[in-house]
Amino acid sequence: MTAATLSQADDDVAHSDALVVFGFSGDLASKKIFPALYAMVRKGVLTVPVIGVASSPWDTDAWHRHVRASVEHDTPIDDEAAFERLLSLLDYVIGDYADTRTFDALKKALGAAERPAHYLAIPPAMFETVIRGLGAAGLADNARVIVEKPFGRDLASARELNTIARAVFPESSIFRIDHYLGKDAIMNILYFRFANSFLEPIWNRNHIASVQVTLAEAFGVGERGGFYESAGCLRDVVENHLFQIVALLAMEPPAFQSFAAVHSAKASVLRAMQPLTADALVRGQYDGYRQEANVAPDSDVETFCAARLFIDSWRWGGVPWYLRAGKRLPTTAVEVRVQLHAPPQHLFDDADPGAGPANYLRFKLQPASSIALAARIKQPGKAFVGNQRELYLHEDNHQAETPYERLLGDAMAGDGALFTSQDAVEAAWAVVEPVLGEHAPVVAYAPGSWGPAGADTLIAGDGTWHDPQPEEPPS
Ligand code: BG6
Repeated sequence: MTAATLSQADDDVAHSDALVVFGFSGDLASKKIFPALYAMVRKGVLTVPVIGVASSPWDTDAWHRHVRASVEHDTPIDDEAAFERLLSLLDYVIGDYADTRTFDALKKALGAAERPAHYLAIPPAMFETVIRGLGAAGLADNARVIVEKPFGRDLASARELNTIARAVFPESSIFRIDHYLGKDAIMNILYFRFANSFLEPIWNRNHIASVQVTLAEAFGVGERGGFYESAGCLRDVVENHLFQIVALLAMEPPAFQSFAAVHSAKASVLRAMQPLTADALVRGQYDGYRQEANVAPDSDVETFCAARLFIDSWRWGGVPWYLRAGKRLPTTAVEVRVQLHAPPQHLFDDADPGAGPANYLRFKLQPASSIALAARIKQPGKAFVGNQRELYLHEDNHQAETPYERLLGDAMAGDGALFTSQDAVEAAWAVVEPVLGEHAPVVAYAPGSWGPAGADTLIAGDGTWHDPQPEEPPS
């Protein structure tokens, strides 16, 4: 596949001529969107007006200061002229999303723009109000809508939201963001699997014993307690980010050269996943979560999840997939470990399954991207004794665009390749649906630990969790 065949960008598709950011004063805009917009302006890829909408009663000075502080959140502004260009493109509409006057003011601010892209960086509970408001104000004509995850709260609400969105926008104008799909390291799973021929013969239940995916974060919910209370770890990162990683790892080869085929193969994996059961899910909550701002003192919301799931397919039948995600864990990293079966014949005593893990493949996805294949090698000497060493591939390639730069740019260009389809969204909700309401209470865990002990029990039949370590490429 070439970049062109992988992309759904079509030269005839008109570029959006304005970007509207709902949730202008929110945490997501502050942490991810303003830095992305600044980078896009600096690179010359964003030249159209950007209108922010939110209810914070800021005067121009105040929101200019907010935008500057947000852009400087991670790194200092290194191009003051570009920052000034960003400010010159920006405008801010203050209003309540439930008030039609907000949309009238937005219409006015959009001026001559005819094809805006509306980005909903707002709590999911507000999606419906804003989409309806856009439709009623005539702001959906020739427009696109970019919707943040989680898309809905469960299967029924995802379907309902889709019906509302489809009543206002055609499917080709709806862009469901999962920013993990804008990460190079995650797209490399697709490339690595299908650009190499050595993997396919072993990439199935005959050779793979289990798969682990860990998304660990060392930090807590911070100022996002309110959002987290309505989401929890399962909705926040498991049914979307982790499932997307699983889908890329487990999918069949796309039937033809197109992202439509990739979408379809990924959706098939999600549809083949067995629904989660309460006994295959461990929910944890870090000590101190209940004292975070906007968190209920008796909250049962999970900040940690460990789950075991199965994919009912010819390729994966019987292979357990262990997923683990959480906040306030010992490190911030995303890593996949594909555990291969031990050799069938027991020739060397040191390779006894009890003596150490069998061969495995490891995909480090964050913070840096690397792939390692672990194989046993004999130590010098008479004895047939060896140890497991990693063949290590490390691409020291800093991602040129952040996920949000890439995805906002793609959506504005009408390129849906890296966005999630509605059938995939629904299939993912169907998997977690049984445990959204019915589950054991959260179990407390100490900040800086790997979650409740129940997570170890969950995986015990297939070994132990492999905790991501700081990466040190072998010399
Ligand atoms: C977001 C979640 O979607 O992903 C956050 O809402 C989480 O809770 C974040 O921290 C992780 O993204 P990244 O790109 O920092 O790994």
